[in-house]
Amino acid sequence: MLTGAGVSAESGLPTFRASDGLWEGHRVEDVCTPEAWERNPGLVWEFYSARRAAAERAEPNAGHRALAALERRLGDRLLLCTQNVDDLHEKAGSGADDPSRLVHMHGELFVSRCSADCGRPPFLDHALYPEFSRIARCACGALVRPHIVWFGEMPLGMDRIYEEIDQATVMLVVGTSGAVYPAANFVDWARRKGARTLYVGPEAPLNAGKFSEVVLGKAGETLPSYLGV
Ligand code: APR
Ligand code: ZN
Repeated sequence: MLTGAGVSAESGLPTFRASDGLWEGHRVEDVCTPEAWERNPGLVWEFYSARRAAAERAEPNAGHRALAALERRLGDRLLLCTQNVDDLHEKAGSGADDPSRLVHMHGELFVSRCSADCGRPPFLDHALYPEFSRIARCACGALVRPHIVWFGEMPLGMDRIYEEIDQATVMLVVGTSGAVYPAANFVDWARRKGARTLYVGPEAPLNAGKFSEVVLGKAGETLPSYLGV
């Protein structure tokens, strides 16, 4: 399974493309790129602190819960790969029995790491850093940064994802516009391997033609009955 921002929309977290190219009033280039970080780490952390505060308040919806229920039924036969950095899949129970069944390919909002790559591992972090002077520092002295894959950076867990797509018989994609690569290509790889490819969301994604079936509807309203969970 692959999910995108749409699966969290009914939990009150705005999708990116619903907001006219601005994300909560910011241009993506100003807050979600390595260049933005170099230029203004204070602004980047102000943005991600607001994202943390919003995600902290959000509750998973029926769509998240249906995907977690499917995982309980399929066990290790299922991998949930999400482009979302929020933790609503976890809050709904995905990965509860085995965290490796959930891959956050674009990173995680509640994890931070050293911005100088000094070798210390990423760590859980629910703190807010609303201005430059309050940003935490790594033991090596460098600023900590969000453990988020910014535009121009390599997605995480790709080896594992390729491996799983190779073996997949069904690929279910939910709530993603098909505009951001490599995730937008997963459906091609799965199809080439002979998998059934299904999309669920209120509008057809840009790569709609690649799916065996497109089901138009909101995740929370559609998934429980569609998946029979
Ligand atoms: N249920 C399911 N899908 C929905 C819902 C809903 N209730 N509401 C909206 N959607 C769909 C929209 O139709 C759209 O196709 O969710 C999609 C949201 O698209 P994007 O905002 O482009 O989100 P996504 O595809 O996840 O973005 C990919 O781009 O912004 C970067 O790194 C960020 O991971 C993100 C990546
Ligand atoms: Zn460090």
